[in-house]
Amino acid sequence: MNQAELFELLRYFPHAAQLKFHASDARFKVLIAGARFGKSVASARETLLELLAGPTRGWLVAPTYALATPEFNYLRDDMYRRLDATPAQGTAPPRLVSPWGGDVTALSAHQPESLLGQEIDWLILCEAAHLKRDAFERFLRARLATRSGRLLVPTTPHGHNWIEQLYERGREGEPGWDSFQHATWENPNVSASEIEAARRSLPEDTFAEQYGGVFASRAGRVYREFEPALHVGALVAPPGAWIYKAIDFGYTAPFACLWGTLDADGRLMVLREHYQSGWGIQQHAALIQGVDRGFRDAGCRVGPAWADPAGALERKLLSDAGVHTLKADNRLLGGIETVRQRMLKREDGTPGLHIDSGCRNLLRELEDCVWAERADPPAPAPGDDHALDALRYLCVALSRKVDWQNRGTLW
Ligand SMILES: Nc1ncnc2c1ncn2[C@@H]1O[C@H](COP(=O)(O)OP(=O)(O)O)[C@@H](O)[C@H]1O
Ligand SMILES: [Mg+2]
Repeated sequence: MNQAELFELLRYFPHAAQLKFHASDARFKVLIAGARFGKSVASARETLLELLAGPTRGWLVAPTYALATPEFNYLRDDMYRRLDATPAQGTAPPRLVSPWGGDVTALSAHQPESLLGQEIDWLILCEAAHLKRDAFERFLRARLATRSGRLLVPTTPHGHNWIEQLYERGREGEPGWDSFQHATWENPNVSASEIEAARRSLPEDTFAEQYGGVFASRAGRVYREFEPALHVGALVAPPGAWIYKAIDFGYTAPFACLWGTLDADGRLMVLREHYQSGWGIQQHAALIQGVDRGFRDAGCRVGPAWADPAGALERKLLSDAGVHTLKADNRLLGGIETVRQRMLKREDGTPGLHIDSGCRNLLRELEDCVWAERADPPAPAPGDDHALDALRYLCVALSRKVDWQNRGTLW
């Protein structure tokens, strides 16, 4: 059986871009594409013929075990459901063993040391842009050497990192390497409306990366959606509004606290900032309680506060002084993304984030914050980001749960 016959048997009809990927007989194939392009399907089925042909050992390695499951499930379903191959005795996820000795294991690269082991015939690095170069170079690459193993790298790009260099090898015609780059919309099975919804709700460069499948540059201003004319005004919380806070700790660097509320349409209004270096926690606590009192006097209700989870001691001291906080979510890139998404205009032309003109330090930091060059993973360049950290905590804590998994966007 050849590949075309196998695909016919499975009723798998690769779309044009997948066909190009399957047609290449390179030993190392790097498939860079947007979310839901069909990378996982194509990569799994690319190895299926080998799996059916006889004894072979393959690994699916991903940043987390969950990220290897699409490939694993496609292989499992193809073998057991569609091709009616009965699993060998004792086979269980994350391992799949065919009656004729095809052996597949899904592994997480979370602890790269655990990747030491046998030689393998093929390796799929699932969503490899989120893998560390080290995990591949130190623990995986050598495993392919003895058996002239094959490598497939299906991933959505994630900044200008080592994956872009792998991609370049195929582009530059290095023998044995082939590279592919495609957008989500090249998969005719993804609806245009899904893509348009993503285009509207994501910052431009994020959309280019996650759906366009290009190595989009993170350069220049981080919060480039921010326009004072659009986002800044004089804001007042109406009576009855819930007031939320977010805090980033600092002593030499400023301590930053933001107060915000959500309007009836879920827009975040940042009402006030406290930005001060050189104070003790008790001083900050007293000031914060004073501001809270002012909001209560105006008929508002004081809701939860979130603070930097790294500041365990500071959170305890604040709590002892009467200001209770929850641990904020401090994941940087996802947080930046959440803030930027809020800045985008909604259907009525107004953005999801408004800032009171009195928040001078926050406004300054928003203007000044730029991406570091060639940071891996992408990160803002060093500079003042104390109020920005608090803004991230607030936006993430108050964001409706975004179903990233479903959108195929990774953080
Ligand atoms: N050739 C194809 N024919 C039918 N459906 C496809 C094809 N390629 C991909 N799909 C579907 O598109 C969706 C995304 O595929 P998947 O491989 O999970 O994408 P990716 O790994 O690029 O995010 C899945 O629902 C998959 O079944
Ligand atoms: Mg996938």
